[in-house]
Amino acid sequence: MKITIIGHGYVGLVTACVFADFGNIVYVIGHTKEKIERLKKGDPIIYEPGLKEILERNIQAKRIFFSLDYDSIKLSEIVFITVGTPPKENGEADLTAVFEVAKNIAKNLGNHFTVVSCKSTVPVGTNKKVETILKKYSPKNSQFAVASCPEFLREGSAIADTIYADRVVIGSESKKAIDMLLKLHEPIEGRKVVTDLASAELIKYTSNAMLATKISFANLISFYCEKTDADVEAVLDAVGLDKRIGRVFMYPGVGYGGSCFPKDVMAMIDVGKKLNIDTLLLEAVEKINLQAKENFLQKVLKFNQGKKIALWGLAFKPNTDDIRFAPSIFLIENLLKKGFEITAYDPEAKKNIEKIFGNKIKYSKDPYEAVKNADQLLIITEWNEFKQIDLQKVKKLLKKPIIFDGRNIYDPSLMKKLGFKYYSVGRI
Ligand code: UGA
Repeated sequence: MKITIIGHGYVGLVTACVFADFGNIVYVIGHTKEKIERLKKGDPIIYEPGLKEILERNIQAKRIFFSLDYDSIKLSEIVFITVGTPPKENGEADLTAVFEVAKNIAKNLGNHFTVVSCKSTVPVGTNKKVETILKKYSPKNSQFAVASCPEFLREGSAIADTIYADRVVIGSESKKAIDMLLKLHEPIEGRKVVTDLASAELIKYTSNAMLATKISFANLISFYCEKTDADVEAVLDAVGLDKRIGRVFMYPGVGYGGSCFPKDVMAMIDVGKKLNIDTLLLEAVEKINLQAKENFLQKVLKFNQGKKIALWGLAFKPNTDDIRFAPSIFLIENLLKKGFEITAYDPEAKKNIEKIFGNKIKYSKDPYEAVKNADQLLIITEWNEFKQIDLQKVKKLLKKPIIFDGRNIYDPSLMKKLGFKYYSVGRI
């Protein structure tokens, strides 16, 4: 099929590359000349494992094309909107980019039937608004239908998540649009769920809100454990054996970050308030997430052994360079205010953090260099390379053998044996 994808962020570019890899012709539209030029040369701009290879392969095979203009809309059977929907001050999802793009699509629609589908996470009712815009700005004889086709990929494992999806959700009032989307998604694993527009939009928010709730619940239990000398991992391991509950996505830590959970929980609260729904539970999820970060900060403020901090992990999770709503930002801001000196290490996210903090913090090229002469080490992101690092060497390089681990990477009894003072989350 011929498809156009508008937006080339984590969702847009991954989706484009995967569909191109399946043999489709994919046109990607962006609005920054410099970025489009980089993409044309095979530079994905963002870091996502495996993305560069799949991008280069499909450029070579002439299955993926990048452009600033909307000409490809006329050639495309399906158009996906994958632009950002960042939160406004009041938590509402900012849909400016979605509506702007919808207008541009409308003006460029051809004579054939076109499906216009939002893959961006948008509040329930947005696709109806997109439909109104399409009707208003499209040429008289154009034929189109809107569909909601939310994306469930995670950064860091985006390509595998797209190909081996748990489910593909397609919501539309048009049978023809549903059939075309089913055809495009055929090679993708996972159950195909066909539903109405509003339900499809709500499925995405419900999934993210549920996952965020699981994390906040795990963090809440970690607070109980810290006050009672219980071990949160032991508690959740046993609780998770109950098949009705499960252990997946119940890992406590320094709170969830990223471009999705914080923004989507906020947007769901905003929509709920507009619909006169009591959003108490979701507000608690948000509050506990902040408490998780605050709790870790207070531990560092209470038990630190000096002003020099080594910090491992800046990205909001491993295998990405994304720092949007990363807990590291909250911690760095607050620690700098308290007069700490920070030397940070992250395999991918340094460049992005530098845009915020510049030379207010120092950066290291490797984890060992970061801990040299530091009074303590803070671990904020569980990159694989920290899991089996030479802890004896880390101990020798640190001025004091103290680790504050916000991701529970190490076994507390082993750390004790190695001579560390080890503070983790919800464990003695
Ligand atoms: C999340 C969802 O998992 C995807 O299904 C969804 O498509 C995506 O949002 C989106 O809406 O676009 P993502 O934010 O990329 O994906 O990454 P996750 O793996 O979900 O992690 C989010 C945050 O939760 C990270 O900060 C992670 O450290 C934290 N987390 C995750 C925990 O603190 N504990 C856990 O048990 C799991």
